Amino acid sequence: MTKHIPFFEYPRLWLDDREEFLSIIDNISTSGGFILQKAVSDFELELANYAGSKYAVGVGNATDGMEIFLEAIGINPGDEIIISSHTMLATASSIKVAGGVPIPVDIGEDNLINVQAIEDAITPNTVGIMPTQLNGRVCDMDSILAIAERHGLFVVEDAAQALGAKYKGQHAGTFGLASDISFFPAKVLGCFGDAGGVLVNDKALYHQIFQIHDHGRDTDGEVRRWGRNSRLDNVQAAILSYKLNTYDKVIARRREVAQMYQDRLGLLNELQLPAPPSETSDNFDVYQNYELTADNRDELKDFLGQKGIGTLIQWGGTAIHQFTQLGFNQVLPDTERFFERCIMLPMNVFISDTDIDYICDSVTEFYRK
Ligand SMILES: Cc1ncc(COP(=O)(O)O)c(C=O)c1O
Repeated sequence: MTKHIPFFEYPRLWLDDREEFLSIIDNISTSGGFILQKAVSDFELELANYAGSKYAVGVGNATDGMEIFLEAIGINPGDEIIISSHTMLATASSIKVAGGVPIPVDIGEDNLINVQAIEDAITPNTVGIMPTQLNGRVCDMDSILAIAERHGLFVVEDAAQALGAKYKGQHAGTFGLASDISFFPAKVLGCFGDAGGVLVNDKALYHQIFQIHDHGRDTDGEVRRWGRNSRLDNVQAAILSYKLNTYDKVIARRREVAQMYQDRLGLLNELQLPAPPSETSDNFDVYQNYELTADNRDELKDFLGQKGIGTLIQWGGTAIHQFTQLGFNQVLPDTERFFERCIMLPMNVFISDTDIDYICDSVTEFYRK
């Protein structure tokens, strides 16, 4: 019998815990504390503690977060920042908006930024590296930090997809000067609208970021520079605080789902799966997405669609350097090949073990029929 397994069931974000969310919204609204009140400062503290960073600032969304920390660091016209071409357009656009030039490079075997490609792309104009901790997995940060040190570059992270992911025990978002986290609804920690956070360790940089996100006002209310408005709403902050309490359980379930996919699909030569969860490797992954590459990807997608299974090709199948209308002209063969073959299977806490069996049976049927 055909099942119906959407790629992501947005209404369940709300419906599965509706009473609790209603009561949180009621409490915040009744108190009248809508903007920059205790719910926000509480959540910022909890977020910083969770990720092991000194400070966190709630912002309107992760894209704003990147623009703000780049503005705080200070980018001059023409400054180049190296990014992976396998990332969301926001990584590149934030550099552009901050006044710099995004330089996309190829991916490595783990489908994250290729560290050799970073080194090859460095020019006299390069000022920084902004790796994306994509799909809930942290890049090879030892190598990236070593390259940065050798060449006198700063490192910032796009950790929008990676809250809770670790590399050698250290949390995503805490390796460089600053990082962004996204709380977009479908993120591992999501709320009911746009929201984001910035993680930062340096006190002076924290104050710059804080000022920019609130019209130039510092934590003491004094205006110290030009700024803008990109604040996290109190209602969203309170919901995020509530969800952060059970966040590790959510991660554990996602790792369980990834292991089931690995067990059931790992033997199909036509697929290249993401690294399975491991307690002993350098990487602790949170599986924001389960993105694999597949032979006959488009036919597989159609076949799964007929079986009622929702899949997604990330960012419409376009790598950053393929947005030629934005001025990119690189040729990046590994990324291009990846985007011809990539597909994401459902990965969330709403799918049951039976759903996973059905998905895996269907994928197997496609290749063995
Ligand atoms: C890798 C990456 N960077 C940045 C963003 C932007 O996040 P936001 O939508 O919160 O601005 C996203 C969101 O999907 C993302 O996946």
